[in-house]
Amino acid sequence: LPDGQALTPPMGFNNWNATGCAVDEKLIRDTADLFISKGLKDSGYEYVNIDDCWAAPERDPVTKRLTHHPERFPSGIKALADYVHARGLKLGIYTSAGTVTCAKTMPGGLDHEEIDAQTFADWEVDYLKYDNCNNQGRPAIERYTKMRDAIRKTGRKIVYSLCEWGENKPWEWGKEVGHLWRTTGDITDTWAKMVDILKKNAPLDKYAGPGHWNDPDMLEVGNGGMTDTEYRSHFSLWSIMAAPLLIGADLRKVTPATFDILNNREVIAIDQDKLGKQGRVLSNKDGRWTFVKPLANGDIAVALFNETEVAAKIGATAAELGLPQRAGYKVRDLWQHKNFQTAGEVSAVVPPHATAMYRISAGHDWSWQQPAVSTGLELD
Ligand code: GLA
Repeated sequence: LPDGQALTPPMGFNNWNATGCAVDEKLIRDTADLFISKGLKDSGYEYVNIDDCWAAPERDPVTKRLTHHPERFPSGIKALADYVHARGLKLGIYTSAGTVTCAKTMPGGLDHEEIDAQTFADWEVDYLKYDNCNNQGRPAIERYTKMRDAIRKTGRKIVYSLCEWGENKPWEWGKEVGHLWRTTGDITDTWAKMVDILKKNAPLDKYAGPGHWNDPDMLEVGNGGMTDTEYRSHFSLWSIMAAPLLIGADLRKVTPATFDILNNREVIAIDQDKLGKQGRVLSNKDGRWTFVKPLANGDIAVALFNETEVAAKIGATAAELGLPQRAGYKVRDLWQHKNFQTAGEVSAVVPPHATAMYRISAGHDWSWQQPAVSTGLELD
C-alpha cells in the first residue's frame, strides 16, 4: 500500500512456526524482552506478532466484538500492546477472511471487518495478518479489500499482511490492498520445503518494492529441523529476496548460533536496503544459484547458493553482475565479515546447502592499491 508504511520489509516475530495454537501472553512478553536483551531490537526487529488462537471461541454476545482467550491471554490484548509499546516495539495480531480462523478456534473477520478492525485499533495493534481459511468461496480481492478499507476507517496505522497463500496471484493486485502478501502455502522446518518456497517466490521479484512485498512465509531459523548451514542459507535467501524477516522460533529455547544468524546485521542490511528491490536470479545451473540485488548506494549484493549435495564453485563475471568495468572490486563477505578484492569475477567454492553472500562496493576502485587477483574468492 502506498501509505508510507513498510517501506522496507517488516521485521519481527510470529509464534506460529514454534508453537502453533499453544501461544500465551507470557511468550509474547518474553519475546519482547529478548528482542531487547539479545540485541534483536537494535538489529531492526520491531513487530511482535500473535498468530491464530489468541481469541475466545465466541464473540461478545452484546457488542459482537472479539475478546481475548481467557486462559491464554488473561490480561487482554490492550495490556499486551502496552507492554510491547513500552519497550519501543509494536504488536501484531491475526484473524482470517472467513467465518472462523484456520485452526477453527476463534471467529474470523468475514462480514465483521469494521468491528474487528476497530477493536484492533482500540487495542493499539500495529500489524494485522489476515488469513484465508473458511472463506465460503467468496472472492479474495473483495474480502481482502474490505478489511483494508475497515483498517483505513479506524485512522490507525496498521501494517496489513495478506495471507491467501498465493492462490489468487496477489502479486498482481496486492500492491493496492496490503503491504505484503504470502506467495505460497505454509513453510515447514525442513530443507525441502524451504527450497520449494524459494523456487516459487524467487521469480516474482518484479512485483516487490517499498510498501508492497512478496512474503515467502516466516522464518524457521532456530526451530531445529535444519542445520545451521541450512538456516544461514534460509536467512541469506530471504534477505536477498527482500522478504519480511519474521522470526519463527521460541527465542527462550534457541542456541547462541541462532542468535548469531538472526543478528547478522550485514545480511539484514541487504534485506532492509532502502532501494527496496527484490534480488533476482541471475542463474541457476542445476541447483547452483546466483542472485543479485542492487542497493541504494550503488553497491550490489550477491548470494551464491548451493542447493546440491556436493561442494561447487558458483559465481558470475563482473560483466554478468552488471558491474562497471574495473581492474578490481572491493568485496565484503557478509558471513565471514571480511573484505576481499577480486578482479573479473565473483565466485566461491560453496559447501553443500550453504550460501556465500557478498556486498560489492560501487565506490571503491582498489586497482591502484594492489594488483587485482585473477581468480575469485574461496570459502575456507
Ligand atoms: C494458515 C497460515 C499460517 C498460520 C495458520 C494458523 O495455515 O498460512 O501461517 O497462520 O493458518 O492457523
